[in-house]
Amino acid sequence: MQALRRLFVCSLLISFIRISTTTALDTISPSRSMRDGETLISAGGNFQLGFFSPGTSKGRYLGIWYSVHTETVVWVANRETPLGDSSGVLKVTEQGLLVLLNSTNRIVWSSNSSTTAGNPVSQLMDSGNLVVKDGNETNPVNLLWQSFDYPCDTFLPEMKLGWDLVTGLERYLSSWRSTEDPAPGEFSSRMDRRGFPQVVTMKGAKIMSRPGSWNGLHFTGYPYNPQTQASPTLEYEIVLNKDEVYYEYRLLNTSMFSRYVLNPSGTAHQFTWVYQTHSWELSSAVQADQCQNYALCGAYTSCSVNVSPICACLKGFVPKSPKDWNSGYWSDGCVRKIPLACSSGDGFLNYTGVKLPDTSSSWYDKSMSLKECNGLCLNNCSCTAYANLDIREGGTGCLLWFGNLTDMTQFTSGGGQDLYIRMAASELDGIERKSTFKKKKLPIILIGSAVFLVWFIIGLILYIRKRKLRNQGVTKDYLGEDREDMELPLFDLSTLAKATNDFSSSNKLGEGGFGPVYKGTLIGGKEIAVKRLSKNSGQGTIEFKNEVILIARLQHRNLVKLLGCCVQEEEKILIYEFMPNKSLDFFIFDQEGQKLLDWPTCFHIIGGIARGLLYLHQDSRLRIIHRDLKASNVLLDNDMIPKISDFGLAKTFGSDQSRGNTNRVVGTYGYMSPEYAIDGIFSMKSDVFSFGVILLEMLSRKKNRGFSHPDHHLNLLGHAWTLWIQDKQLELIDTTLYDSCNISEVLRCLHVGLLCVQRVPEDRPNMSYVVLMLSSDITLPPPKQPGFYTERSVPESPSRNRPFSVNYFSTTVIEAR
Ligand SMILES: *[C@@H]1O[C@H](CO)[C@@H](O)[C@H](O)[C@H]1NC(C)=O
Ligand SMILES: *[C@@H]1O[C@H](CO)[C@@H](O)[C@H](O)[C@H]1NC(C)=O
Ligand SMILES: *[C@@H]1O[C@H](CO)[C@@H](O)[C@H](O)[C@H]1NC(C)=O
Ligand SMILES: *[C@@H]1O[C@H](CO)[C@@H](O)[C@H](O)[C@H]1NC(C)=O
Ligand SMILES: *[C@@H]1O[C@H](CO)[C@@H](O)[C@H](O)[C@H]1NC(C)=O
Ligand SMILES: *[C@@H]1O[C@H](CO)[C@@H](O)[C@H](O)[C@H]1NC(C)=O
Ligand SMILES: *[C@@H]1O[C@H](CO)[C@@H](O)[C@H](O)[C@H]1NC(C)=O
Repeated sequence: MQALRRLFVCSLLISFIRISTTTALDTISPSRSMRDGETLISAGGNFQLGFFSPGTSKGRYLGIWYSVHTETVVWVANRETPLGDSSGVLKVTEQGLLVLLNSTNRIVWSSNSSTTAGNPVSQLMDSGNLVVKDGNETNPVNLLWQSFDYPCDTFLPEMKLGWDLVTGLERYLSSWRSTEDPAPGEFSSRMDRRGFPQVVTMKGAKIMSRPGSWNGLHFTGYPYNPQTQASPTLEYEIVLNKDEVYYEYRLLNTSMFSRYVLNPSGTAHQFTWVYQTHSWELSSAVQADQCQNYALCGAYTSCSVNVSPICACLKGFVPKSPKDWNSGYWSDGCVRKIPLACSSGDGFLNYTGVKLPDTSSSWYDKSMSLKECNGLCLNNCSCTAYANLDIREGGTGCLLWFGNLTDMTQFTSGGGQDLYIRMAASELDGIERKSTFKKKKLPIILIGSAVFLVWFIIGLILYIRKRKLRNQGVTKDYLGEDREDMELPLFDLSTLAKATNDFSSSNKLGEGGFGPVYKGTLIGGKEIAVKRLSKNSGQGTIEFKNEVILIARLQHRNLVKLLGCCVQEEEKILIYEFMPNKSLDFFIFDQEGQKLLDWPTCFHIIGGIARGLLYLHQDSRLRIIHRDLKASNVLLDNDMIPKISDFGLAKTFGSDQSRGNTNRVVGTYGYMSPEYAIDGIFSMKSDVFSFGVILLEMLSRKKNRGFSHPDHHLNLLGHAWTLWIQDKQLELIDTTLYDSCNISEVLRCLHVGLLCVQRVPEDRPNMSYVVLMLSSDITLPPPKQPGFYTERSVPESPSRNRPFSVNYFSTTVIEAR
């Protein structure tokens, strides 16, 4: 009986296979349509056409996918008009139109063609192209319609990305709205035809990124390594003629599959199919980094992720708005120190290994030599730079820029191209003199130095004599001779005692991690904050003094200014500017305070704290880790500008490595990262964690520590995480913020907050990335589980369990970053 049943099942299977092979057609015609449930398979078996529903969506879409991986859809016909049921039918009309009909025979989607055919057929080609043509027509020029002319989010080999100048048709990629909705989303990748054509990825009408122009060998914005590119698998081409302007790529091995896809989040990747692992692998080794954000640093700058700060003015240029520039607002870019002289002699400065600037204001010629190019640029006053158009065969063609040079990146290892930037002759002289300093000017320098040396020795003798005279009459100060050098006023203990009413408790403003703070009023009426450090710092006077001088040199709009110090009679006291508006905790946790703090102010404060912290971490020369960042350490001035206080002290009180291990944990529970609280390991990423906690506290107006919720025992971080994965983000936002809040800003802050409190320090962004994420609308990676949310099973994110996700691979790529 068993055997019989098995035999029966077997024969059923065999007959099923036979049926499906006999129905594996690649063509439909007016007499033969295709219904939901049936598929067309291209002649070589690469691609299939049929109906599908993405993810949990109920809508039915007509699409093309790979036979090797049916989840990977490369094209969708009815992107915006899904069918409600599985009664769809695809037909070719007698006129040669492809139409998709619903159960009531109404047209839901249709192809478009101006010519008609006597014997129209529609065929799915092995390239993934769905075409409509007349009978046995084989010439691709005579196609009536093809899906390659209407790309969705995927750029396949042999497709064209660009313009048909005769018909005006633009072929461009547009992202899906989400992984479950193929309707056109907000991102597109298209060819910008202005100047020398280049591919740009846009969000709406705004350029987000650009791979850089094609130089015959590679895109100048992508790192390029001739060794690994020695046996390329893809071949790119840019076609520029009077009828067409487009990019195209081909596979050099036809048994491979490769696709370039623009995700709903705006990121784009090239994938190659790997038979062994039966999966898609990222084939372009392009790391997403900050410099890939279009024109991040503004005009006449170069961006490099290997240096800090990442933005730098080009040689001979200075920041246009130095204040903004130094605070990390680079978008205004740089301006020339010396204006161009134009006809009266300019020259060029040679840059190597750069991503060529935005070519939208460029001009090109394919046949000119570099020398002719130089001459042409020199003779036109508005020409700002030139380069070879094509770098193969020693370099050919000419590319000229007119106007601002933006979106340049400096590569240090492979990639980029040579670029010649126009400079005033006098500026060029200065730069060249510097670089040829050693070689040519040596004799002059020798003579010069001898003369200088004589004068120096005479000066020194005079100085020593003068000093001796002075010291005879001056009592030695407890801080030594170099008091003038430190530019830090010393306060007398008696002055401070008077100012603070003898450190009376009525003058006490609060108790910080390192000791109490008092309000003081100096004799002239100036108000100060006096921090009396607890006595167990274990540091000598000299060390303390040195540290304080360093701290005093940290000057930033978002740091509390240190006015001076006092070291006397075992006392170590710091004097700060007084902040009348109390600290941030009053505004976010106190009912009275909350009323005064609307969302725009909150958002400004968040940005300010981030920039202050960035300055401490990266942009000051000291690389300070705060180690006790919390709401009560953020003070607010009269204009509600946040000022971080208590910075630099942890360093004084502990070890001075940038990442270290300490026995003595200074910090505040609720704000401390797991690795710091548990293992005493601190790094900049522990400050990032604390910053994330402050962010979440500002949104929820609840303290992380002591947070309680009727439904669970998680702390605020755990609560925020739970709401995040349940897609109920807005529930975290406190009702007092509802009236004034800007939803997208709030959600972005929440997202950034969660990224900052991730459990693994390496996953947390650094502060420069935080500042960037807060101030631009770049796409954010998904957050992972936070640290210290209390261990408890968290429901799995619904989006993780997606049964079918076209963009699954790109998601993991982002997470792995
Ligand atoms: C078929 O499509 C038409 C036009 O889009 C629409 O009005 C109608 O409701 C659809 N019928 C069904 C059963 O979905
Ligand atoms: C169809 O063609 C007409 C005219 O050629 C054009 O205006 C229209 O935008 C086309 N529609 C689509 C969906 O391509
Ligand atoms: C198409 O080709 C087949 C076989 O080669 C031939 O019998 C048929 O007549 C052709 N039809 C047309 C329209 O050329
Ligand atoms: C082409 O690709 C296939 C599949 O990856 C591989 O097996 C084959 O060796 C490749 N052929 C050449 C010539 O590289
Ligand atoms: C520019 O610099 C590169 C690398 O140093 C060099 O190969 C090239 O010849 C230089 N070009 C000119 C015009 O000086
Ligand atoms: C300089 O180049 C611009 C852009 O190609 C052109 O419009 C202008 O006429 C040129 N000027 C001169 C003096 O050649
Ligand atoms: C050049 O840059 C400045 C500021 O960076 C900007 O105001 C100006 O509009 C830019 N000009 C062009 C032609 O892009």
